[in-house]
Amino acid sequence: MASKTSTPLHCLAIFLLLAQLARSAIIPPSGPSDHQHQHNPQPSDAYIVHTDHLAKPSQFATPKRWYTSVVATLSPATSLERIFYVYDTVMHGFAAELTDDEARRLSDAPGVSSVYKDTVVHLHTTWSPGFLGLDKDFGIWPDTGFGDGVIIDFVDTGIWPESASFNDSGLSPVWLTWKGRCDDGERFNASMCNNKLVGARFFAAGPRAKALGMDAVEFQSPRDAHGHGTHVASTAPRFPTPACTGTARGVAPRARVAMYKA
Ligand SMILES: *[C@@H]1O[C@H](CO)[C@@H](O)[C@H](O)[C@H]1NC(C)=O
Ligand SMILES: *[C@@H]1O[C@H](CO)[C@@H](O)[C@H](O)[C@H]1NC(C)=O
Repeated sequence: MASKTSTPLHCLAIFLLLAQLARSAIIPPSGPSDHQHQHNPQPSDAYIVHTDHLAKPSQFATPKRWYTSVVATLSPATSLERIFYVYDTVMHGFAAELTDDEARRLSDAPGVSSVYKDTVVHLHTTWSPGFLGLDKDFGIWPDTGFGDGVIIDFVDTGIWPESASFNDSGLSPVWLTWKGRCDDGERFNASMCNNKLVGARFFAAGPRAKALGMDAVEFQSPRDAHGHGTHVASTAPRFPTPACTGTARGVAPRARVAMYKA
């Protein structure tokens, strides 16, 4: 993504991530004691455990061994393998089958940052701003300028510039530091770009594209013969346009679009 001021969208991305995390049910406060647990086994549930990986004691060769040991001490009588995922990319931790009581005790263990019960999530809405509680007159949404000042670059199947989603009504010309451009080609020329669609390029010169026969099935231009690129490019930056039930608009309707067809 190229942008003049990327901070607002970053804020929004972080906000969306937090909103996502907040949907996971945090474990309920205090419950039955360990003693009760031993006499009255509870059913297990899947829990996601976030850890501070730097707190791993050095005697454990791998995080997985550490986690296995921590889980084993919760209920020494249980020998089952209860960890079913170990996370080490965007966060550290693991997923395991635990009773509510074990989860509660685990949340106090050294090196454990948080423990969440896994929940089933359903598709809730096609109206994400309302679902997230974003208000178009107040708060983070208007504060980010609805994507104003941002160009979102897409590498996809091209773009259908006549789509009403790329109407540039109310947008000023793109800033002078923007180095993108609009390629001419089959049923496409630079006059089809506007203050919304600020770049459209086409890359099919490579031998792989030739071997795939791209020249037979595709417009020799940024124009989208497939539909995927047009759909994707009209999601976040979509100008408010009629849809099957009402008006559809992106979460960043003032963002600009640049398409790189490849
Ligand atoms: C773009 O949107 C404006 C405002 O809704 C509308 O008046 C105009 O006709 C649209 N342009 C095109 C090319 O559809
Ligand atoms: C670009 O395409 C439009 C629509 O087909 C056409 O009217 C226009 O003359 C073309 N412009 C150039 C410079 O080829």
